[in-house]
Amino acid sequence: MKSKGVSIIGCGYVGLCLGACLADNEKNKVEYNSTRSLFEEGFKDIYDKIYMVDINQKRIDDLNKGIMPFYEPGLEDLVKKNTDILSFTTDFEGSVLNSDIIFIAVGTPTDEKGNVDLSGVFNTVKDIGKIMKDYKLIVNKSTVPVGTADLVKKIIRENYSGEFDVVSNPEFLREGKAIHDTINPDRVVIGSENLRAEDKLKSLYAGFKINSFVCADIRSAELIKYASNAFLATKISFINEIARICEITGADVGQVALGMGLDKRIGHDFLQAGIGYGGSCLPKDNRSLIRTAGDGDYDFKILRAVEEVNKNQRELVIDKLEKNLGNLDGKVVGLLGLSFKPNTDDMRAAPSLDIIKYLKEKKAIVKAYDPMVKAVEGVDIVDDPYKAIEDADAVVLVTEWDEIRKLDFIKVKAWMKGNTFIDGRNCLSREYMLDNKFNYISIGR
Ligand code: UGA
Repeated sequence: MKSKGVSIIGCGYVGLCLGACLADNEKNKVEYNSTRSLFEEGFKDIYDKIYMVDINQKRIDDLNKGIMPFYEPGLEDLVKKNTDILSFTTDFEGSVLNSDIIFIAVGTPTDEKGNVDLSGVFNTVKDIGKIMKDYKLIVNKSTVPVGTADLVKKIIRENYSGEFDVVSNPEFLREGKAIHDTINPDRVVIGSENLRAEDKLKSLYAGFKINSFVCADIRSAELIKYASNAFLATKISFINEIARICEITGADVGQVALGMGLDKRIGHDFLQAGIGYGGSCLPKDNRSLIRTAGDGDYDFKILRAVEEVNKNQRELVIDKLEKNLGNLDGKVVGLLGLSFKPNTDDMRAAPSLDIIKYLKEKKAIVKAYDPMVKAVEGVDIVDDPYKAIEDADAVVLVTEWDEIRKLDFIKVKAWMKGNTFIDGRNCLSREYMLDNKFNYISIGR
């Protein structure tokens, strides 16, 4: 049987998680086909090689040694289980030539003004176009502004005259739950111009537990990604503003969110008030959508407010500290958690970075602990949570890692010099903390 391959260009978060899950899925397909009865239909297309391509030689060398470039629960095991199918390589040309389907999963960095740098995507497709000798399905996974797929098609056409398809297939996985989300997505969005491309991609994904496919035109598919992340950011900033109203009125944002979330039209998710959202996606995609609107002479007012509210939530921590400790000059502040959310070592746009910056401006002495983040410039990061709170005038819980939520808070209290404890994620019991004589301060309750 002729060997069939899939290439994934870019071994970052999206590419690596997708590749590991696809490899595992192909193996499961083979196993199912070999055990099915005569009356059961088997999986049609089986791919025996997943080429994981990156220009970063060190990253490829590491991956070949089983060293992951970042921490993501379950990823390392899945990669190691599927090394026979996965091929980590810098050989772009060989991989493309041996593949029917080519995923583009390169980074699309976005500047402070929301301009998206598409050079990685465009260089990749130009090279693909130059190499192609027969039909390929090119699937864009990178988050790109609406209209990018049309430019991608144009670039390939300039370099190749045969048949090909370009599909927009945005990614919705969450860091920390990436493997689960890849295998069990709420929806798979396929923006395509024809059924051939749509069917080919659906056939590849067969075996994943997909709730629904959304087959859309390419521009709508591209926008679904931005609209989804912007809406999630909006939910967070909305509940953070409700938290402000709770502080004014004496209500409790946890109870308010519970009562709101039970309405199926609203839902419970992303109604956790706190120090705001961070990460590589929500902030940058919000900015980029504001920019897209601006380019069309439209002012996306809600999203501008969402950003501003999010920025204010980080400053709120400093306000609360000053209200309780007075001048922060020389005060010792212990930070618990640094990553932008639990179960990742990702520090991109993490609220902790702004909090550290503000504390340093106020000349506070900062100590920090995080289960996975071991170095941040200019911060004394300790290897034990109790060392971060030892002799602290105040402690700020920044990231709600399980390990941090489950600390022995009686011991925490005994080790601190002061008793001010700011729970930036509203993840501890208010009653318990007050009973144990903490000056416990959370957000909106
Ligand atoms: C986000 C989206 O949730 C994914 O669907 C999407 O695929 C991804 O961006 C992306 O575009 O690649 P992620 O950045 O991994 O995923 O993180 P989230 O789980 O969305 O959390 C983002 C931030 O919001 C975190 O800092 C988290 O602490 C904060 N958050 C989340 C809240 O403050 N409150 C909430 O109720 C929920």
